Amino acid sequence: MSRNIEVGVFIPVGKNGWIHSVNTPYTPGSFQHVLDVVQRSEALGFDFVLSPAIWRGRKGPSRHWMDSLESLTTTAALLQATSRIEIFGTVHMTVFPPATIAKMIATLDQIGAGRVGLNLVTGSSYLDLAHLGLWNDELNHDERYDMADEWVHLVKRLWTEEIVDHKGRFFATEAATMGPKPSRMPKLVNAGASPRGIKFAADNCDIAFISASDGPKFIATARQCKEAARAMGKPNLKTFGLVTVIPGETDAEAQARLDHFNAGVDRECLADIAAGYEQNRSAKALSEASLSLTGGEKQSCVMPGELVGSYETLARRLSVTALEGELDGLMLVVPDYIEDLAAIANRTLPLMERYGVSSLRSR
Ligand SMILES: Cc1cc2nc3c(=O)[nH]c(=O)nc-3n(C[C@H](O)[C@H](O)[C@H](O)COP(=O)(O)O)c2cc1C
Repeated sequence: MSRNIEVGVFIPVGKNGWIHSVNTPYTPGSFQHVLDVVQRSEALGFDFVLSPAIWRGRKGPSRHWMDSLESLTTTAALLQATSRIEIFGTVHMTVFPPATIAKMIATLDQIGAGRVGLNLVTGSSYLDLAHLGLWNDELNHDERYDMADEWVHLVKRLWTEEIVDHKGRFFATEAATMGPKPSRMPKLVNAGASPRGIKFAADNCDIAFISASDGPKFIATARQCKEAARAMGKPNLKTFGLVTVIPGETDAEAQARLDHFNAGVDRECLADIAAGYEQNRSAKALSEASLSLTGGEKQSCVMPGELVGSYETLARRLSVTALEGELDGLMLVVPDYIEDLAAIANRTLPLMERYGVSSLRSR
């Protein structure tokens, strides 16, 4: 078995990134830090970065995400400051009208000479969207994806057709013209973990993101996603795995780092995230992925499935994740986006070739 995968970085546009702890390494959620991370990612050879859309900070002593950057404006500045790496911005289709985003992405296509991509999300946290005054109780989880289907259909029409008259269930445009057209169709991605979310990705996107790891449950989910896409007649849908990696010189050192982060776990923050989902009227329909950020029974400060180990151990475990999960790409979360990213690029990714997984510099 061998695979050639893309590797990217889930960039920390929110304070403390994805470690819910008072012991998180320096991650201020500032533009200067994110710019540094992205320019280093480009120099290290990473294929892409993805900036999430964060609107609301969390309660608790770690002040998690209390400082965060807006995704698309950050994407604009990052595209201007780089020359090769692909940059994905994120939009909540429940927040922005489609014609607005079609125009903004066409503009970003010019700023980044065809390197912009778009991560499309619906949003399941009541508190995150109510914070903007934009929670819509009329739509349940699956209906939000119905709306999203129409949203993306309209955006694609605006990117490709001269005059767009659209009258649908959710949106209408009258004699809409939009120029410039993007130089190529921007890559579209979605991270819907539910069956309805995966259907949305298969119908509308180039890539589906899923939470990934080397455990049997994660491998099965990754393969099911690929299988579901094939069954829907979309064999070209790529699947990329989101993985949290915690490296160290030795397995013990890496584990000690995680133990230190967990010693400072911010339970108030985890409870606040859970409260955001609980107040969603169709909370019962929430996918496991939505709930993975709430810490689980273990009340862990990192998302489930974290890979902890030496650079060698991580090479093996990431290879199993990619090979057995039939993944086309990996997107990394790390504790320290300066030191850890460089070490993973220089010490772990090259070792993965031993296991038949090539990426970055091996191409
Ligand atoms: C890689 C990745 C990126 C995501 N980015 C965002 C984001 O920026 N903003 C957000 O509100 N949700 C984000 N999510 C959550 C998903 O959009 C989705 O709501 C979640 O995975 C649950 O899936 P479902 O909507 O099919 O139930 C992300 C999830 C993943 C795995």
